[in-house]
Amino acid sequence: MSIEVKNLTKSFKGRTVLDDISFRVEDGEILAVVGLSGAGKSTILKLICGLTKPDSGEIIVSPGDIAMVFQYSALFDSLNVEDNIAFALTERKEFKNKYTKEQLKEIVAQKLKLVGLEGIEEKMPHELSGGMQKRVSFARAIVTDPNTILYDEPTAGLDPVSSTMIEDYIVRLKDELHASSIIVTHQLSTIQRCADKVIMLYNTKIVYSGTPQDMISGGNEYTKQFITACINGPMKVAGSEDPEN
Ligand SMILES: Nc1ncnc2c1ncn2[C@@H]1O[C@H](COP(=O)(O)OP(=O)(O)OP(=O)(O)O)[C@@H](O)[C@H]1O
Ligand SMILES: [Mg+2]
Repeated sequence: MSIEVKNLTKSFKGRTVLDDISFRVEDGEILAVVGLSGAGKSTILKLICGLTKPDSGEIIVSPGDIAMVFQYSALFDSLNVEDNIAFALTERKEFKNKYTKEQLKEIVAQKLKLVGLEGIEEKMPHELSGGMQKRVSFARAIVTDPNTILYDEPTAGLDPVSSTMIEDYIVRLKDELHASSIIVTHQLSTIQRCADKVIMLYNTKIVYSGTPQDMISGGNEYTKQFITACINGPMKVAGSEDPEN
C-alpha cells in the first residue's frame, strides 16, 4: 500500500507542467501537496489515478485500488444518498453482484456512520448542506475500502469547524483503512492536522520536501512565502508579473 512516483514529466500543448518529479508515499502515510494555483497539483492526482497519462516516468501504486475525493462533491443529483454511496459497488464490474441488497444497505450505513451522518440514506443531494454533501462524497469514495485515497482540496470553501471535521475524517480513514493518501490543499490547518510529509511544487519542480513541523518552524524561502501569504518572494503567481517589465 504505497505510492511511488518516479521521474514524472507531463506537459500540455508543449508547456511543461511537471518536470522529472519523484516522491514516495509509504503505507499508511499522508502526503500533502501544496503550491500556487496552476502549479500542477491536480495534475499529479489525475496522473496517479489514471485520468491523465504521463509523458514519461513511472507511477507505481500497490495494490492498486484508488479512490479520488473530488474538490466539488459531484454527487449524482437524481440518486438518493444510499444509491450515491453504493454506486461503485452496484456499477463496477469487479463488485457487481458481489453483495445482496441487505449487505449493500449495511455497508452504506457503516460508511455514513464513519462520516457522522447516520440515517440520511433516503435524502436527496439537494436536501443536504454543502458540508454534508462533501461528507457523503467521502463516504462514496471510500465505499470499496480503497487502500489509496487522493483528496483534491477537501476542505476548500468549508467553514473552520467543518474543515476540522473533514480533517478528522481523513485521519480516521487513514487509521481505519490503513490507506496511503495524498491531499492537495492550501490550508495550513489541514497540513498540520493530517499530513506526515509535505511537498511543495513550483515552476515544474518540487521546491520543498519535509515534515509539516519543519516546514512551519523553518522551511525555505518558498514555504515561508506560502505560509506568510506574501506577494514578494521567489514565487510569482501566473499573470501577476509587473506589466511594465
Ligand atoms: N487537460 C489540460 N489541458 C491543457 N492544460 C492543462 C490541462 N490540465 C491542466 N492543464 C494546465 O496545467 C497547469 C496545472 O494545472 P493543475 O490543474 O494541475 O493546477 P493546480 O496546481 O491544481 O492549480 P489550482 O490550485 O488552481 O487547482 C495549468 O497551467 C493548467 O492550465
Ligand atoms: Mg487543482
